[in-house]
Amino acid sequence: MKEIVAELDRKRAAARLGGGQDRIDKLHAQGRLTARERIDLLLDKGSFEEWDTFVEHRCTEFGMEQRTIPGDGVVTGYGTINGRLTFVFSQDFTVFGGSLSEAHAEKICKIMDHAIRAGAPVIGLNDSGGARIQEGIASLAGYANVFQRNVMASGVVPQISMIMGPCAGGAVYSPAITDFIFMVKDSSYMFVTGPEVVKTVTHETVTHEELGGAVTHSTRSGVSDRAFDNDVEALLWLRQFMGYLPTSNRAPPPWVPSEDPADRSEPSLDALVPNNTNKPYNMKELIYKVVDGQEFFEIQPDFAQNILIGFGRMEGYTVGFVANQPMVLAGCLDIDSSRKAARFVRFCDCFNIPIVTFVDVPGFMPGTTQEYGGIIKHGAKLLYAYAEATVPKITVITRKAYGGAYDVMSSQHLRGDVNFAWPSAEIAVMGPKGAVEIIFREHAGDPEKIEELTEDYRQKFANPFIAGHRGFIEDVIKPSFTRKRLCRSLAMLKDKKLENPWRKHGNIPL
Ligand code: HXC
Repeated sequence: MKEIVAELDRKRAAARLGGGQDRIDKLHAQGRLTARERIDLLLDKGSFEEWDTFVEHRCTEFGMEQRTIPGDGVVTGYGTINGRLTFVFSQDFTVFGGSLSEAHAEKICKIMDHAIRAGAPVIGLNDSGGARIQEGIASLAGYANVFQRNVMASGVVPQISMIMGPCAGGAVYSPAITDFIFMVKDSSYMFVTGPEVVKTVTHETVTHEELGGAVTHSTRSGVSDRAFDNDVEALLWLRQFMGYLPTSNRAPPPWVPSEDPADRSEPSLDALVPNNTNKPYNMKELIYKVVDGQEFFEIQPDFAQNILIGFGRMEGYTVGFVANQPMVLAGCLDIDSSRKAARFVRFCDCFNIPIVTFVDVPGFMPGTTQEYGGIIKHGAKLLYAYAEATVPKITVITRKAYGGAYDVMSSQHLRGDVNFAWPSAEIAVMGPKGAVEIIFREHAGDPEKIEELTEDYRQKFANPFIAGHRGFIEDVIKPSFTRKRLCRSLAMLKDKKLENPWRKHGNIPL
């Protein structure tokens, strides 16, 4: 028996070497960790239970029967992050470049099936050259099996993708379906086809980094939700991030004790909005000043910066924040910001996370670029997401809430539960200047008269009280008391119940 157990140890040690020490050294030289080192950093010490260590591929083409490596390029199993159950797969680039074989896919599918049943998140640490070329169609089938599970798990358990090496071809589509994609700078790439194919087909010359690097995807395409400097930073950050997410759609949002008083006032907020309504101010300051302990985890901080999204806590409970940012494009809604916020609102709604929305929006961005790009449909995504959401929704209008954008930004009319306005709020069909230029066109040649009429309009309509008279906002509040009013409202809404009519699924304007 002793000998058999020793043999098991030998086999396990061989499996842990993956594609061999030379390839591991090469990874380390590039500043990348191995698949197992990554899992060790991500999960609580000693909590990892590995499955399918001895699975091997079944390919017999191209001499592959001579080249089997236990585990077949992916380490799978489960463990805990801060004591909470999490399933994980980590692709091993030292084994056939982390490429996905039929057996490799089966391992991923197995943990996904368990995650759905157990009601626990799935984290994928992706590092893969795509479909295992030697396996042909069998690996394509493997991909499709993973995709199908990604879709079935969507909205049931959180799915997170950390991209930690090249991800080419099929390797990008599974992450694309997951809830959040994070990337590591200078060592991770995502593209459907690499620079060589791009050169052949479109004659463009582009580097790996330009085409699909972490900076490209977190600033230009919006595919990535955040980029990190190295593997260690990325994984330690991911541990913290997971603390904001419930384990499944059946679980309540996580709670952590907070020492920040719910009634803490913030006098500096009374001076946040400048007297000149066209002057910008930093909306992030408001978010940081209301959340517990000034801790805000921003998502997509470098993409569509005219809208802010992210997680914070109020009285210890996770809250999703959405806020127009007057510092960028005056906080206008455009294609990218609408898509960015819509997906976030839907994530929060899937997982029972209340949404707080701070509004300072002059309207939708005009122009041919926006219209030709389909702003009508993209803007409607945000409208749809807010209207469909049944989680507690609290809105604070700090300054402008004009036109369609007023409706869209979690207004009471889209079942916003509690709608506050600061005294500086201007809730109207459009800004005073635009309104006067249209309804008093006959005075177009008389700047003095236009100025007088504009001031008159501002006095009459650019304030929160017209909306207040109709009951479209619950109260006009002092900015310094915003945290207190939000905490009270969230507590009141804690057991909110609201159901949409039965349907197979809605048809969001994609
Ligand atoms: C089998 C692969 C592989 C793959 C890499 N390898 N990709 N083996 N199938 N898809 C192997 C290499 O042969 C090599 O083996 C080892 O992994 C490391 O690869 P290198 O090329 O030496 O590494 P590097 O220079 O870092 O380049 C990494 C890479 C490159 C950018 C990922 O290997 C690459 O471009 N691979 C092909 C990517 C691709 O076109 N994938 C699409 C497949 S089709 P040795 O033994 O030498 O160490 C697809 C469609 C699915 O995915 C669609 C589903 C919807």
